Amino acid sequence: FFAQDSEKPLLGKKALVTAGPTYEKLDPVRFIGNYSSGRMGYCVAERLAELGASVTLVSGPTSLEPAVGGIDLVRVESAVEMLEACRAPFLDADITVLSAAVADYRPMEQAETKMKRETKGDFDLRLTANPDIAATLGATKRFGQRMIGFALETDRGEEEAMRKMKAKQLDAIVLNSLSDKGAGFGGTTNKVTIFDSQGRATSYPLKSKKEVAKDIVDYIMGLG
Ligand code: CTP
Ligand code: CA
Repeated sequence: FFAQDSEKPLLGKKALVTAGPTYEKLDPVRFIGNYSSGRMGYCVAERLAELGASVTLVSGPTSLEPAVGGIDLVRVESAVEMLEACRAPFLDADITVLSAAVADYRPMEQAETKMKRETKGDFDLRLTANPDIAATLGATKRFGQRMIGFALETDRGEEEAMRKMKAKQLDAIVLNSLSDKGAGFGGTTNKVTIFDSQGRATSYPLKSKKEVAKDIVDYIMGLG
């Protein structure tokens, strides 16, 4: 599948990566979001491109720019937009990495003009579930397409990671445990364990996200 001995073993391969948070609009000036920096996903996209893949990076709002060429950057804001942007590139993606921290919910209604404190007073915010991008794409996965996702858990990490991998039809899942210092959102380092569909765990030490991205891409290339 991959020319392991070449300097660019992914030449001719296509990859799709999601990264960053999503912003779910409340009104023209406010949103619900999360603390994802997008860094892990950008590092994975850059590593895939370095190895020769043509990469589509579908990114939620971040301050990052891809640091290497060969990456088609598609900027989106919401989960719904992210799913729509993924559909076409997924069709011929050999490798798909779902690293975005997608908001699970969005406001049921978006105000067309700025909400006003004086007229609005106290109110309840109604939320509606966003599409699960990984599961939606996973449901149409073809033979030979490799898909890997992430799980960020506070407890029962392995159990939850395995459950999500199955539910979303992923080939592997990268678990970063929030209980590990230096892992997860925001920082420049990460400590991960990757599970395959058989439940086999591969644990890596704390590293820069750039180094973790190398491990993840090597792992994907080694998937049977
Ligand atoms: N994911 C996605 N679309 C969503 C939610 C999650 O594509 N709407 C992807 C993430 O990019 C990640 C994986 O699914 O690769 C797991 O995300 P996570 O938020 O941990 O899982 P959820 O299924 O949303 O479960 P939870 O209730 O724990 O948030
Ligand atoms: Ca979630």
